[in-house]
Amino acid sequence: MERLDLKTISAYLNGAHLTRWHPPGHEPVIFVSEKAILDPGKAIRGGIPICFPWFGGAGKPSHGFARITQWLTDDVGDDHVKFKLAATEATRDVWPHDFEAGMELSGGDALDATFTVRNTGNVAYDIELALHTYFTVADVRNVTLTGFADCDYIDQLADNAVVTQQGEQTIDGEVDRIYQNHTDDVTITDPGMSRRITVKKTGSKSTVLWNPHVEKAKRLADFGDDEWPRMLCVETANIGDHAVTLQPGYSHETTLRIEVEHV
Ligand code: BG6
Repeated sequence: MERLDLKTISAYLNGAHLTRWHPPGHEPVIFVSEKAILDPGKAIRGGIPICFPWFGGAGKPSHGFARITQWLTDDVGDDHVKFKLAATEATRDVWPHDFEAGMELSGGDALDATFTVRNTGNVAYDIELALHTYFTVADVRNVTLTGFADCDYIDQLADNAVVTQQGEQTIDGEVDRIYQNHTDDVTITDPGMSRRITVKKTGSKSTVLWNPHVEKAKRLADFGDDEWPRMLCVETANIGDHAVTLQPGYSHETTLRIEVEHV
């Protein structure tokens, strides 16, 4: 599959999918499974899959078609790439709307991702999206998360019960949560890698936190049974009540900035 290897980042045209960010002076930040399938039309397990134009529900393909569709490059620089995707017969078969989407990625000391979508049709529609970022951690059981205190989340492992997050957070089992009305920065402090990752965003009111833990990892064909301790997804999203309504001619932009520091 065609991949762009730039200075600090790599990305596939399939899905406009970033799979590497290696900031100078740090270990790589983004996790990709050793079992990831790199075939056109398949979602890559790891990196930053783009979930669009839907996240959950019964919609097929799961998480939308953007992550399994071939995008075009619009602009490629030293450590910067812009991808674009517009409606085709194939996308209209699964989602009957016109749109133009862009994904701009810039590497360096920080990673910047900007996802845009414009309604180029004549009717309004709703979109969901997620920049489904997989982070590398030394051992997820030892990381501490901040940025979710007092925020309500939908617990996808408990019949979508709504729960309020208390204070700092550690991960000691499977987690699959959608934090709603969440706009704060999230930090992942990882003592094993002596680093802190900060996730900043704009144009996003949902954040998904996901780790499959032992049993779900076994059920994922493209994920090693023993890989779950080494990753954590913190996903910059707009889901459910925070789906975005796009009137004809209007655009939406979601940005993600990832920073890393030694601690
Ligand atoms: C998360 C979802 O965002 O992605 C989980 O909340 C899901 O429910 C996970 O299991 C992985 O999804 P997929 O489609 O890439 O296997």
